[in-house]
Amino acid sequence: MCGIIGISSNKSVSANIINSLKKLEYRGYDSAGVATLFDGEINEVKSEGRVDNLEQNFDLKSLKGNIGIGHVRWATHGIPNSINAHPHSSDNVSVVHNGIIENSTILKKHLINKGHTFKSQTDTEVIVHLITENLKTMELEEAITKTLKQLHGSFALGIIFKDIPDLIVGARRGSPLAVGYGPNENYLGSDSYALKSMTNKITYLDDGEFCIVKKDQVHFYNQEGKKINKKILELSSNESNYDKGDFKHFMAKEIEEQPLTVKTGIKEYLDNVNNEINIFNFPWKINEIKSVTLIGCGTAYHSCLMAKYWFEELTSLDVNIDIASEFRYRKNRFKKDSLYIFVSQSGETADTYAALDLCNKNNMKTCAVVNVIESSIARDSNFVLPIHCGPEIGVASTKAFLGQILVLYILALKIGSLSGQIDKKNYQVKIKDLKNLPSLIEKTLLIDNDIQAISSTFNEAKGSMFLGRGFSFPIALEGALKLKELSYVHAEGYPAGEMKHGPLALIEEGMPVVVLAPRDSYYKKTISNMQEVIARGAKVLLITNKSKDEIFSENIWETIEVENTNDDLLPFLLTIPLQKLAYYSALKMGYDIDKPRNLAKSVTVE
Ligand code: G6P
Repeated sequence: MCGIIGISSNKSVSANIINSLKKLEYRGYDSAGVATLFDGEINEVKSEGRVDNLEQNFDLKSLKGNIGIGHVRWATHGIPNSINAHPHSSDNVSVVHNGIIENSTILKKHLINKGHTFKSQTDTEVIVHLITENLKTMELEEAITKTLKQLHGSFALGIIFKDIPDLIVGARRGSPLAVGYGPNENYLGSDSYALKSMTNKITYLDDGEFCIVKKDQVHFYNQEGKKINKKILELSSNESNYDKGDFKHFMAKEIEEQPLTVKTGIKEYLDNVNNEINIFNFPWKINEIKSVTLIGCGTAYHSCLMAKYWFEELTSLDVNIDIASEFRYRKNRFKKDSLYIFVSQSGETADTYAALDLCNKNNMKTCAVVNVIESSIARDSNFVLPIHCGPEIGVASTKAFLGQILVLYILALKIGSLSGQIDKKNYQVKIKDLKNLPSLIEKTLLIDNDIQAISSTFNEAKGSMFLGRGFSFPIALEGALKLKELSYVHAEGYPAGEMKHGPLALIEEGMPVVVLAPRDSYYKKTISNMQEVIARGAKVLLITNKSKDEIFSENIWETIEVENTNDDLLPFLLTIPLQKLAYYSALKMGYDIDKPRNLAKSVTVE
């Protein structure tokens, strides 16, 4: 992943580079660095850890220069220390890089033979020396075209040159890169979010393209080095969404925003007057689609799994789901009558994008369910269903998960109704229930105290399990993932009915086990599974929905009741206590909630 920024201006750039790097930290936060050009010299500063560290270690105000590049890193080649931090520089060239150079070992050998010396363990440093070498005999455009052709793998690059001091070169293959336009200055950035405080005028580079950014003009080139024209997009800007407000962490804010997330999603897709779902411009006829394949990574994959249950329940389609990193390398049997749905908050996840690309190359019908509508996955899909969550900054996904499952539920409901699988009356009831969902989420969010009190048990234990059946199983997986991501304790999600086929051996006295047993059609079965783990000493946290009926089981450690709604929608409510459990466990441990160790928000490497 990693985040890159470049600014070419008529004034000093270091302060704006630092501000943009702070926004890009969601892409990586192992180390940070800046290089500027001043008085015929490249000045480079870099530090292990966050951008804050860089600010503490160097007097960045005295880092002069009207042209500069910056980087936040998520380590791939070489440990996260200040030597491996970007920018990497030769005497003449300084480079920031997001991606992986797959042939770096071979290139390095070749460059060492030519007399180049390397300082770091990174793959990026070969780019620096390749350009330096090519510039010995070529003009800039030719040297860049040749260098990019020599590189295998994925990259977004920002490059400055001591001997060509009025420009930055940007290049893209695989990893995203945007150009921004400001008054007397222009920018390069990994995404529009990093540039938003400076401009809302953006051009996205496509794969294979590069650009030359000067303070007053930008030129674009294709992979053959020929000049090309590109469109400037105007983005809507809403800076306030990027603020924590009164919350201690973005994650806390994003959890509390979920009633609004769902309300906005419903408003976008429901026609209140006719009680109808509107999915405008859907490019295919429903009878052209016989199956759906949903693909994603991490939390987005759990959304796909959730959708599988709904699609099977509400439509007659065959439903497949896949983890993008697996799908992209398998021998897939592409089917003309299948709809391929790519679920991604960022819309930039490398594996998900590669899976989409594969489908596009095979002329499949592709649909993106994304939060960032300007993202690569959105731009390259045939059809986009935005989740309208607003920016999600916390690395562990919360509101985007609810946004994704909402849109997927709405799509399943619409297809089910159009194909006659759901009768009119039932459809109307489901839409009515959907409209009530935001207020039920709001009420469920009030469970704070109960969760806070029990969260430390999960940190103190060797590990924990999250169990559910049917609609609750994907939520169990998501609950376990949240706890792992934030609290660094082992947590495993499992189908409750599978416990006796192995994992029951893990249960010992006092082990915390979360059992999701809403009073749906699986309820009795799940309660039986719960009793099996209690009998073996587990400390069970039962999460169910409110009901007058008593729960016939003894020795439940704690019970949390979410609000009541129809079976389809209970997964939305069951998610809330699990998000809070992970949040409070991490809070008690004093961990960095918005930036958990080793992770990043947007995973643009495979
Ligand atoms: C990373 C994030 C996860 C996210 C996953 C997929 O691993 O830390 O929170 O679920 O990427 O990201 P996407 O942007 O494709 O939804």
